[in-house]
Amino acid sequence: MCGIVGYIGNLEKKKLIIGGLRELEYRGYDSAGISVLSQGQLHTFKAVGKLVNLEKKCETFASSGFGVAIGHTRWATHGKPTEANAHPHFADFSNVVHNGIIENHREIKECLEKKGHHFVSQTDTEVIVHLFEEKLKTFTDTFEAFKQTIAELRGAYAILLITQKEPEKIFYAKNASPLIIGKGEDGIFFASSDAPLIGLATDVSYLEDQSVGYMDLNGFESLDLVVKLNQDKGYAQKDGFRFFMEKEIYEQHTVLLESMMGRTNEGKVIFDFRDGQFCDEIEEITICACGTSYHAGMVGKYLLERYGKIKTNVVIASEFRYANPILKKNELFVAISQSGETLDTLEAVKYVKTFGNKTLAICNVDNSSIVRECDEVLLTRAGIEKGVASTKAFATQVMVLWLLSVFLGQRRGVLAPSEAETLIKVMVESAKKTEVSHKLHDRIKRLSKRYLHGHGFFFIGRDVFYPLALESALKLKEISYLHAEGYPSGEMKHGPIALADSELFTVALMPEHLLYEKIKSNVEELSARDATICALSAKEFDGADDMLYISPCSHYMEEFFSMMVALQLFALEVAVRVGSDVDMPRNLAKSVTVE
Ligand code: AGP
Repeated sequence: MCGIVGYIGNLEKKKLIIGGLRELEYRGYDSAGISVLSQGQLHTFKAVGKLVNLEKKCETFASSGFGVAIGHTRWATHGKPTEANAHPHFADFSNVVHNGIIENHREIKECLEKKGHHFVSQTDTEVIVHLFEEKLKTFTDTFEAFKQTIAELRGAYAILLITQKEPEKIFYAKNASPLIIGKGEDGIFFASSDAPLIGLATDVSYLEDQSVGYMDLNGFESLDLVVKLNQDKGYAQKDGFRFFMEKEIYEQHTVLLESMMGRTNEGKVIFDFRDGQFCDEIEEITICACGTSYHAGMVGKYLLERYGKIKTNVVIASEFRYANPILKKNELFVAISQSGETLDTLEAVKYVKTFGNKTLAICNVDNSSIVRECDEVLLTRAGIEKGVASTKAFATQVMVLWLLSVFLGQRRGVLAPSEAETLIKVMVESAKKTEVSHKLHDRIKRLSKRYLHGHGFFFIGRDVFYPLALESALKLKEISYLHAEGYPSGEMKHGPIALADSELFTVALMPEHLLYEKIKSNVEELSARDATICALSAKEFDGADDMLYISPCSHYMEEFFSMMVALQLFALEVAVRVGSDVDMPRNLAKSVTVE
């Protein structure tokens, strides 16, 4: 995930900015850069890869006296991780760093190109600094030009801009991406999270959305909501959460919106595939993945068949290659992977390419092996996921597959425009449903103590709730080491019901808006045999021993995302009670590069 730092003051700026970026390294990045403006001169350095590469680039540079500086670590979303795409981006006399996504960057770029602006990167960010310099042709007041620039941007952003026109100021804007301004003995500091500010700033202001302003050495006092900065670094890296996994669960409502950004417009899904005809003539899809990504693929099958009306197969990567698979000529092969390095999935892609089929990666890491191997990519934009047990990566994989299903439905002319429009609205609502309420989390904390023994868990559901049941069972297994299975609820009566007794914990996923009556009778069958039932629903169910209420929803996918969060928290809280290592469970690795 991208990171931002900024500084106004007299300390040596290169050292300070790179030091700040180092505090953000844990968030993951693939390139970095800094700009220092001192004594009227702008100096910019960028490098691909780790910060040591950037340090080498500016080895002989040092700044002295007063100045301003900005820095950035980039996690590629628009354009490859190259030096040209690394921030800061520049125009003639100004530089900018940005976190987030500018949804309307294409329109702005086209318009600026007609006015003679020349762009050197593939990023959405570069338009900001060019637009600002264009505005300065009309508005002589620099801040007015900056405000006018921000007013034209659509999307999420945390922006810092420096310009030779006002060498003592940093201009900033914030909407839906975090930005903090701090003050300490040695000046004014900016960062996208607490960690770089620790030890430097004592007082901070966490900017609100829609903030647009500028800061100089005397401006901090005018800020609202100033608080003392907690100086604990470990706490800061986890944004105050106990575990990375917990932080990642709480981040889902933001990253889900990021995974949609720039991909919908006026009731339509749009993808910027390099080949505009990439999806034409596709008659069937095979999705291939492992673990959690495989479960996302299973959800994708329901959505692709329902909205894209396209036959979809889902295969486990390790089972695929050696089974002499038969692929049709117009079959699209979709590889899903959080890391982009999973060997089973990577080898499956290589194998499929020998047949000449089109390949698409749905991946969280740009420039990873799977991304490089596939013809096209849809990045999930979840940001780095540190918890070994995947949470936000799964959520964004499902969202991207859902977008793909609507995209294909439109492209194939099988989805009515009004339905596509409605589904896009439901996507936004679904993302919002993943915002964790303290009430829900507290309830799950309390409930978890009743589910620490017994002879196993069954998570049951139908349709998309079946792969969610599989995923929830996997989450619980991975971090609490308790035995859990996911099952289609209608299938319990064909065997597993024999296990039912009071020591069998059944977690029943009971959406109001999809097959409620069907799943209800399946759960009643278990309840009648004295299984302990924990039901997840917005609707009260008499046969449950425990109810875990989700908030009322108007669509089954909203229920899907609401339940997903509750089930991730359930696994987390059970794991906390059994005392396992939540972020690094035994025997597991984040990236599995063996067969
Ligand atoms: C998820 O919680 C797991 N750690 C694991 O199942 C993972 O999803 C699987 O190894 C696939 O990884 P990938 O998405 O990086 O390819």
